Amino acid sequence: MTSPEVTAKRADAPGGETILEVRDLVKHFPLTQGIVFHRQVGAVQAVDGVSFDLHRGETLGIVGESGCGKSTIAKMLVNLERPTAGGIRYKGEDITRLSGRALRAVRRNIQMVFQDPYTSLNPRMTVGDIVGEPYDIHPEVAPKGSRRARVQELLDVVGLNPEHINRYPHQFSGGQRQRIGIARGLALRPEVIVADEPVSALDVSVQAQVVNLLERLQDEFHLSYIFIAHDLSVVRHISDRVAVMYLGRIVESGTDTAIYEHATHPYTQALLSAVPVPDPEARETRGRILLAGDVPSPADPPSGCRFRTRCWKAQPVCAEKDPALDVPPWFREAEGAVAHPSACHFAAEWEDEERRRGSA
Ligand SMILES: Nc1ncnc2c1ncn2[C@@H]1O[C@H](COP(=O)(O)OP(=O)(O)O)[C@@H](O)[C@H]1O
Ligand code: SF4
Ligand SMILES: [Mg+2]
Repeated sequence: MTSPEVTAKRADAPGGETILEVRDLVKHFPLTQGIVFHRQVGAVQAVDGVSFDLHRGETLGIVGESGCGKSTIAKMLVNLERPTAGGIRYKGEDITRLSGRALRAVRRNIQMVFQDPYTSLNPRMTVGDIVGEPYDIHPEVAPKGSRRARVQELLDVVGLNPEHINRYPHQFSGGQRQRIGIARGLALRPEVIVADEPVSALDVSVQAQVVNLLERLQDEFHLSYIFIAHDLSVVRHISDRVAVMYLGRIVESGTDTAIYEHATHPYTQALLSAVPVPDPEARETRGRILLAGDVPSPADPPSGCRFRTRCWKAQPVCAEKDPALDVPPWFREAEGAVAHPSACHFAAEWEDEERRRGSA
């Protein structure tokens, strides 16, 4: 197994301190057969050797098509799933080995905001109970008697009316429900928020409002974010760095400039070509790559480069050799954002490609 590392360190990251260090993270779900004996016949390689850092005050965007392992990473970060292998260090301490009180203390600091505000809130609980529920597990954060005031303050912070504390989720719109989910995520005053597609279920018109709210809260409470999306356009505004995932692995990572202006991995380029371009002239000159076929099954990923079954640049070597996530040797001396990790034997900028195709 390879151990790709996101090496693009951000010297200018706000604060700079590394708050999360994820190394060689693996999650394989066993595939079993038989009703009585449950023989293991294989494994879904949901996450297969993922490494990245998160610095204080920054936002790391994680992007990839549905099924590539994003939610599984999120769940491991907040301890809803145990990794099969690999480590997650929070301020230097490996949290995958903690239990009991030590684990609870760390979990308080890493909170999740879920994808679907329609199903992630218990319809029978009032907003006050939903937002204040984390205090049942961590009463030390909000002593009894102070809870109601705290919950009302949280509602106010996320732009909801504190007087609506006794209402039920169905009395709110989708965007408001996601604000409730965010208020709940903030209740324990965490340092890290893992937001798993927090706007994917919302109308486009509401998405920007929620993204703006998350940005404001980040400044106000010095939060670090992992922001997950299936679409590169959503994370663009909010991310300092972006990691692009395909079938359980990170295939390209770098600053927003590196990913949006100097992508060198064919998969990232394909995702970018699907992003709408507002300028009609740019739309005409930019080629559109259509991704052929479906994502292969993570229970039986292709040999070598996992993207090769859909890659228009694939060569025989791609089936034999698994490309490491590293700065390609031919870009190591390069100036600027093109020198970033890309797991492709033929990593090249999009422009070069077009030129080559044009002259062919
Ligand atoms: N509990 C589970 N048991 C078996 N397979 C799972 C489980 N959770 C997720 N998977 C599989 O792992 C892969 C990654 O899923 P997920 O992390 O949800 O992807 P994403 O969030 O990127 O859409 C998918 O093929 C999914 O079906
Ligand atoms: S290694 Fe080969 S198959 Fe994989 S992305 Fe690069 S060119 Fe395509
Ligand atoms: Mg998901």
